[in-house]
Amino acid sequence: MNLSVPRRAGAVAAFTALAVTALAGTTASAAPPAAPAAPSAALAAPDIPLANVKQHLADLQSIATANGGNRAHGRTGYKASIDFVKAKLDAAGYTTTVQQFTYNGTTGYNLIADWPGGDPNQVLMAGAHLDSVSSGAGINDNGSGSAGILETALAVARANLQPSKHLRFGWWGAEELGLVGSKYYVNNLPSSERSKISGYLNFDMIGSPNPGYFVYDDDPAIEQTFKGYFAGLGVPTEIETEGDGRSDHASFKNVGIPVGGLFTGASRVKTSAQVQKWGGTTTAFDRCYHSSCDTTSNINDTALDRNSDAIAHAIWTLGTATTPPPGPVFENTADVAIPDNGAAVTSTVNVTGVTGNAPSTLKVGVDIIHTWRGDLVVDLVAPDGTVYNLKPFSSSDSADNVQTTYTVNASSELANGAWKLRVQDKAAQDTGYINGFKLTF
Ligand code: TRP
Ligand code: ZN
Ligand code: CA
Repeated sequence: MNLSVPRRAGAVAAFTALAVTALAGTTASAAPPAAPAAPSAALAAPDIPLANVKQHLADLQSIATANGGNRAHGRTGYKASIDFVKAKLDAAGYTTTVQQFTYNGTTGYNLIADWPGGDPNQVLMAGAHLDSVSSGAGINDNGSGSAGILETALAVARANLQPSKHLRFGWWGAEELGLVGSKYYVNNLPSSERSKISGYLNFDMIGSPNPGYFVYDDDPAIEQTFKGYFAGLGVPTEIETEGDGRSDHASFKNVGIPVGGLFTGASRVKTSAQVQKWGGTTTAFDRCYHSSCDTTSNINDTALDRNSDAIAHAIWTLGTATTPPPGPVFENTADVAIPDNGAAVTSTVNVTGVTGNAPSTLKVGVDIIHTWRGDLVVDLVAPDGTVYNLKPFSSSDSADNVQTTYTVNASSELANGAWKLRVQDKAAQDTGYINGFKLTF
């Protein structure tokens, strides 16, 4: 027994204060029940102009050509690539941040671009590595993903999109040396910031010259968003299997962030079955992978176009979807005194105008003021008398009050009728009253 707990201290004074507030009325006040549900669908994405994406690739090629033929970590072509992308985003109204890190004795850079607005607690991120290997310009690997997310970010600005989620884009340094930049970004995010990222979408090699259409098999909602897009085009996809963890999504996945992405294949050879579904030849998806011929000629325009549009589709779909608004609310705010160690009392709301059954996620708002809530058994009683226990008796639960929202599967109940919150106090001394009872359909 818990006799050592100072359980009854202050109870008499509390009772006096509470008793005067207890009233007997049970007038239901219902919000207008017939408000039509607002659409929960996301906005439709614009077409991403292939010519714009290709122009970004031409510009990255020029940057490589002017800087010794590559855009690798620690080389001048890398920083020039960062400056190029940053200038476009700044001009479009993004808030950009260049994050520096050191690797192999040289400075590396990540570029982060935030689109102002959206829910700061729900961040949707898209990212691509901007570095090449030192042997070439890295136009498919990974100018393609970098240009695809850049043009999508610019399309967000052109549309002046007001997404429900906060949108953030990232260009990572030193991926080719072991996901260095993205790891640095993730490791330096406070855990409170990590937990706000609801999804990370990765794009590394999305214009392979002999392309496959691969979707990462990770977060189901992200995966479905991409698969749905390609299904709409009539283009078959496969799950990405050419090395899970071989790109920057791994840095995010490792800390529990839901990830997804697209890929058109690297050095692996396309099978004849894949040639049947996608065309091309039974050679490497990208015969110039990590070599000097990864130039603007090393791009399949159709793949680049489809994947860029798929990026935009995912950003719009995942970034602008709104959760359906709650249905009608019925509330009783009249106070009902709960007799100490006595009979059950109820507060009633009369539900009208709701068609069909109650939802499987009926929200039951309970507001009970009490000096020892463990005394209380709290039930929801449906119009037909079915009892749903919300809170059992507990002699050890010494906290004050029951102020919470329970979710009840009430889908076998007709919605309309008199619903009751039933409360019984089953132990002597501490007391209280029902302050409010609310049902949200
Ligand atoms: N840059 C990646 C790498 O060199 C390319 C790659 C290979 C890739 N397999 C992948 C990218 C799978 C995404 C998914 O490792
Ligand atoms: Zn890559
Ligand atoms: Ca009591």
